[in-house]
Amino acid sequence: MADNEQSKRYDEMIVKEIDERRALRALSDKPVSREIIDRLLTAATYAPSFGNNQPWRFLVLEDEESMETVRKRLPGGNYWARPCPAVIAVVTREDLDGQMPGNRNYALFDTGMACMNLQLQARKEGLVAHPVAGFNAIELRRDLGIDEDYILIALMFLAYPGPEDTLSEKHLAMEKGPRNRKALSEVVFYKKWEN
Ligand SMILES: Cc1cc2nc3c(=O)[nH]c(=O)nc-3n(C[C@H](O)[C@H](O)[C@H](O)COP(=O)(O)O)c2cc1C
Repeated sequence: MADNEQSKRYDEMIVKEIDERRALRALSDKPVSREIIDRLLTAATYAPSFGNNQPWRFLVLEDEESMETVRKRLPGGNYWARPCPAVIAVVTREDLDGQMPGNRNYALFDTGMACMNLQLQARKEGLVAHPVAGFNAIELRRDLGIDEDYILIALMFLAYPGPEDTLSEKHLAMEKGPRNRKALSEVVFYKKWEN
């Protein structure tokens, strides 16, 4: 069976929120309540972690002054994030979690798992949680008073879906287009590893 036929066949068996989640960019400025934000964060903290170390740290920004601080550190390509009413800065530090031989630092791995939980809970709440690496992390870390030994790994922009007429042609096509994924045969090997 061709690879994409196989993933199509499984589509309807995948957990609904996993299937429906997309990093959407047509976003509204409608406020997101603290209660919902706290639910997203609770879902995030239900993630597993090495030795239950829970290395994730989150800084919630939802007031206009803080949002303006974040907007100043976004490059032009992330214009779509500007209307968002809230953002969660995702922070960790390598020594907050297990470090094992073979270059295995679990702080980033475990923090990523927490962020996935957050995104799926957001989907269930009818919200978009869009992860972003495109920002000036050195400047923003300073602006937010986060010490240098912490890693400001991502921003999770939170918003309800909004108007599409603000999007560039490229982003509109991505918004409307199908999920774009490598075939399983490119990323999965059975029995024999391929370098
Ligand atoms: C760590 C990370 C960083 C990302 N940074 C950006 C970003 O700076 N700007 C952006 O528009 N999308 C960003 N994205 C969203 C990805 O482009 C998106 O997840 C990917 O294209 C797959 O699309 P999908 O999430 O809708 O399936 C980021 C996603 C992740 C996980």
